[in-house]
Order: sequence, then structure tokens, then C-alpha cells
Amino acid sequence: MESSELAFMIWLLACVSGPVDGYPNGKVTEACSSMVPLHGHYPQLTPKHIITASETEFRPGDHIKVTLSGPDFEGFLLQARDAENLDGPTVGSFLLVEQRISQLLTCNHVKNSSVSHTHKSKKNHLEAYWIASPNAPKHVQFLATVVEKYHIFWVKIPGPIISQPNAPPLTAIPTTPKTQPTSQPVSHLIKPFNALGCGSMKFCIRNPTNCNPEAANCFFLSFKPDGHSVIIEMSGPSEGYLAFALSHDQWMGDDDAYLCVSEDHHININTAFLRGRSSPVLDSQNTLEDMSWRLADGVLQCSFRRKIHLSDNQRRYNLDANYYIFLADGEVGEGGPIYKHQRQPLISNGMCNVTGPPKDLGGSRSPQLIKIHGALMFVAWMTTVSIGVIVARFFKPVWPHSLLFGKEIWFQVHRTLMLTTVALTSIAFILPFIYRGGWSYKAGFHPYLGCTVMALAIFQPLVAGFRPSPHGPRRQLFNWVHWSAGTTARILAVVTMFLGMDLPALKLPYPWDTYTMLGFVAWHVGIDVLLEMHGYCLIHKVELIDDDRIHILQSLTSVEAEGRTFKQIVLTIYICGNIAFLITFLAAINQL
Ligand code: HEM
Ligand code: HEM
Ligand SMILES: *[C@@H]1O[C@H](CO)[C@@H](O)[C@H](O)[C@H]1NC(C)=O
Ligand SMILES: *[C@@H]1O[C@H](CO)[C@@H](O)[C@H](O)[C@H]1NC(C)=O
Repeated sequence: MESSELAFMIWLLACVSGPVDGYPNGKVTEACSSMVPLHGHYPQLTPKHIITASETEFRPGDHIKVTLSGPDFEGFLLQARDAENLDGPTVGSFLLVEQRISQLLTCNHVKNSSVSHTHKSKKNHLEAYWIASPNAPKHVQFLATVVEKYHIFWVKIPGPIISQPNAPPLTAIPTTPKTQPTSQPVSHLIKPFNALGCGSMKFCIRNPTNCNPEAANCFFLSFKPDGHSVIIEMSGPSEGYLAFALSHDQWMGDDDAYLCVSEDHHININTAFLRGRSSPVLDSQNTLEDMSWRLADGVLQCSFRRKIHLSDNQRRYNLDANYYIFLADGEVGEGGPIYKHQRQPLISNGMCNVTGPPKDLGGSRSPQLIKIHGALMFVAWMTTVSIGVIVARFFKPVWPHSLLFGKEIWFQVHRTLMLTTVALTSIAFILPFIYRGGWSYKAGFHPYLGCTVMALAIFQPLVAGFRPSPHGPRRQLFNWVHWSAGTTARILAVVTMFLGMDLPALKLPYPWDTYTMLGFVAWHVGIDVLLEMHGYCLIHKVELIDDDRIHILQSLTSVEAEGRTFKQIVLTIYICGNIAFLITFLAAINQL
């Protein structure tokens, strides 16, 4: 349990980066143009705050009083923009009324062009003067982003529009600013998608590989080139969200993500850039077209079109290069914040060019090489090592007279099982290196402990190979060194396994895995203690009989024979239990 939590924390520490702490001091210049707070959550939809202006008309140089009021809020960003181009630059400048709660910002190199909060204390009212610039457009609209609490906020709340005298009426009725996915025209899908043409007309990633999104609850993602753009379809069982990301590597972070998020029986289609492992920061600028979706029987489907090259948006990757593709699903909380996917996302088997020749690929939630790594390590450090050591510790006197290939049985068993352990460890050890092409620098302590275990596992047979003769003077030293190094290796290996099985690349079901591992440790220690106690009782018994000197030899052998049977039964039971635990873990790995 503990080490698993430790693993989780290490993993979090190793992976979380990005702007997760917000801007309590109001220096929100990063949000100048999008007006989206980088809080990694979805904005609320229906504003509760109101912006008012003291005038409806203005001339260059005029001071217009602007007020923002509503329920208590912690932060805000107030701007004026051309009412006919709400995604364009800010207009004019501001003058503060209350220096204590508000400050002027330089947005896009224009001094005093925005007003924001100074700290996160609660306020329900804010005033500022807007000064019309000489080159102000005919119609100006005030916009505000209001943060009520860290993850509850509204973006670009539309305020009043004020106009210059004699200005022609606004050409278009200003709609709510075009920032949120909901404001995009979204049509419903008439028909669910199908897998027809996968591998011939379109590039598909399916899990399981025979997934037909029309029929089953399975994950499906397809890319169909169409001129200069690509039509993308995504489908899967999810009550919350479904997302895919294009990544240059097999880690999450610095990825180009596309999300279909369900909210109130409606689906928002969005893009985001994933920084590290923090919650995705949604883009305010939408680069997708022809968006449509369908939500039925717990299956979420969405479809949209994207240009292959987007010159004006460097955050989006070009679609004609090679990427690993991640497909993730998860829950959505109230108001829409995205929770982390509960399980490891599906990763495409290899890098792919979605605009290249159509392919029909599968995906896995865990790479094959890493699965083999985990499986071999379990065999080695749960089973072969445990049986080998128990035999060396308790079974030396059990088969004293029978030899196997000229050596005592316990020794042959110990040597064979231990060399097997070393061989399995060596093979398993190199697999993650092959997979990562180097050091697993985001896997926490596991690789470091793993290397220590590997080193000890090589050290053991080397020392054993040069062991002094059983009655030689340095034998005690050998026993001590061999015992300590072996025991250290086993303890470290158990910790390493605890940490390994919660790593993202091979995430066994949690907390099941931790409890089962604890169960195994308890089983092993229990048997160890039992045999230890049995050995102690045996010595005690022999000492009692010792008084009756005549019978000593006879009794010794009879007591030993009795003990031998007991030990053999315990060993058999132990091996069965051990293998049962091993099979449980191997089956869990196979399920991923
Ligand atoms: C005592 C046994 C084990 C040893 C000695 C060991 C050793 C290692 C080492 C040295 C690495 C890093 C390789 C690199 O940097 O590329 C590694 C990676 C890994 N190990 Fe183990 N391991 C053990 C058991 C396990 C188990 C039982 C599991 C899972 C059930 C596991 C899961 C992983 C995973 C998922 C990675 C890859 C991390 C990544 O790159 O994403 N390991 N292991
Ligand atoms: C990873 C490899 C190995 C580990 C972890 C390991 C571990 C152990 C442990 C813990 C014991 C002590 C049992 C006890 O009395 O409590 C032991 C005993 C012994 N091991 Fe190993 N062993 C390994 C490999 C080998 C190999 C390859 C050989 C022989 C070539 C060997 C030869 C012995 C001998 C001779 C003893 C008995 C020491 C005595 O006289 O009590 N071991 N081993
Ligand atoms: C910005 O506001 C400050 C403080 O009110 C003022 O001193 C400064 O002149 C203003 N700058 C511009 C370019 O408006
Ligand atoms: C991907 O495929 C497109 C279309 O065939 C091709 O133009 C492009 O060069 C490919 N990209 C890579 C990296 O192979």
C-alpha cells in the first residue's frame, strides 16, 4: 500500500508540470489575447456577472466609466475590443478607480490596455475608466473574464457596446464572442460511423482490432484525407470525454490533443495543448471545422475536419508527419473540468503518418516489451528466487544422502533456480531500455532500484562461484556476504515490483495489485516463520531426547524423519500458493 502510494507520488512529482497554480497576483498577461485563465478547466457557460458602461456613445479621448458586478469573485480581466472583431486586439486604455483591488496590464505591448485583479480576495464590484483612443473603431464592446473560484470561471462575458456618433449600425448582430466550443455551429451526426474502408480508404486505430463502432462498445479513431484537410472520426464508450493526442514520444506531455467532452447531453469539441501531465488547457481559438457528434447508449462519437497544415497556429502539429497516437477516455466533473483518465490511454502500436498510406492498426494500453519485462520479473522475483532461497535455508538436511548429478539436492535446486532468476532478470532488464531507447527518466525510483537489484543479482553467482570449501576458514564470511546480498536483493526487488506495477506504462488495476502483492508478501513471510519455528522446535525436541543417551541416534533420525515430511508438505503447499499468486499477476498483465 505504502510503496504504491509512494510510487504514485513519485510519479506525480516526476510528471506534473505546467501552470497549475493560477495567477493570484493578477499578472495574467499570458491570457491577454484569449482571455482564458490557464486553470486547466472548462469555463462556465451562462454568465452571472454584468458589465455596464456610463455612456452609449463616445468620442476619442472620452473617459467612460465601466462597471463589473455580480456575485463574489476572486479574479477578473477587463478589456475593450472592436465590436466587429472580438478576437482582435484590445482598444483604448484604462484608468483605475480602486488601486487596491485593480491594476493595469500591458497586453500585446499596449500599456494600460487591460485591467485585472491584484489579489484573490473576494469582491463583487469593480469600476474603471476607459479612455477612447484616437484611432478607436466605430463600435467598441467591453469584455470580461471572471474567476469566481479557481476552477469556476467565465470567459469573455459580453458587455455593452458603445459607438462613435454617426457611426453606421453594426454590420452583423454581435453574437457572444467566438471563444467557446459551444458557440460553434455543431450538428448532430445522423448515423454512427463504421469501419468500412479502414486500411484502404482511411487510417484507423481500433481497440480491440476488430472494433466496429457501429456495433460494439469499443474504441475507434479514423483519419480520412480529403484534399488539404483530414476528416477525423472518434468513437468509444464514455460518459465523460474521449480524446486523442498526437505525440512525438510515448510519454504524455507536449502533445497536440483533440477532445470531445460531454456536458449536459451535449458534446463540446475542442483542441488543447497538453503540457506535462496537468489537466489540458483548452485553446480559445478553434481550428476545427464540420464538427458533429452523437451520444447514444453510453457511446460517444464525434467527427470533425482539420487542415493538414495550420500556418497560423504553431500549437497544432501538422498532420503529415509521424506521431504516436494516444486515445484516452475519462470522466467529466460538474461544470466540465476534465478528470484524469482513470486508465492508461491506448497508444498506437508504433509511430504513424495518418495522411500516409491507409493502415488499420491496433493499440494497447501497455507496450508488449514492458509487459514481458513485468512478467519475467514477477517469475524471477516472486517464484524462482523465493523457492530457491527456502530450499537453501531449510532443506539442507532434508535429503542428506541423495545426490543429484554428484551434488546435494538442495544445492542443485538452489543453484538452478538462482541462475534462472539471474537469467530472467537479465533478459527482462534490457527490455525497457529497448522500448524507451534509453533511460526511463519519468519512471521515478523504479529504474534506480531495478538497477541495484540487477547488480546484486549478478554479484551473487560471482561470489558463489568463488565460495570457499564448506569447512574452510573463510566460509562463514562467504555465508554472511552471500546471505546479506541475497536478502537485500530480494527486499529491494519486492519494493521495485510494488513501484513497477503502478507505473503508467504497465498499470495493473489499483488497489487490487497492491493488496495482492501484500498478500504474497504475507504468504511468503508466514511460511518462512512457520519453517523457522518448526526448526526451532525440532532442535528443542532433540535436546530433550538428548538426556536419554542410549536412544539418541535412533531418536534423532526419527524426529528428523518426522520433520522432513512436515517440511516437504509445507514446501509443496508453499509452491502451490506461490504459483497461484504468480498466475494472478501474469493474468493481470495479459489483460492490459
Ligand atoms: C525486481 C524486478 C524488477 C527490476 C529489477 C526492474 C528493473 C527495471 C529497470 C532497470 C527499468 C528501467 C529501464 C530503463 O530505464 O529504460 C524498468 C522499467 C520498467 N519496469 Fe521494471 N523492474 C522490475 C519489476 C517490474 C515489475 C514487476 C513491473 C510491473 C509489473 C515493472 C514495470 C516496469 C515498467 C512499466 C517500466 C518502464 C517504465 C517506462 O519507461 O515507462 N518492473 N524496470
Ligand atoms: C540471485 C542469486 C542468489 C541469491 C539471491 C541467493 C541467495 C541465497 C541465500 C539468501 C542463502 C542463504 C539461505 C539461508 O541460509 O538463509 C543462500 C545460500 C547459499 N547459496 Fe545462494 N543465492 C544466489 C545464487 C547462488 C548461486 C548461483 C550459488 C552457487 C553456485 C549459490 C550457492 C549458495 C550456497 C552454497 C549457499 C549455502 C550457504 C551455507 O552454507 O549456508 N547461491 N543463497
Ligand atoms: C498608464 O497608467 C499609468 C498609471 O495610471 C500612467 O502613469 C501612464 O501614463 C499610463 N500610460 C499610458 C501609455 O497610458
Ligand atoms: C506522410 O504522408 C504524406 C502523404 O503521403 C507525405 O506527403 C508525407 O511526406 C509523409 N510524412 C512522413 C514523415 O513520412
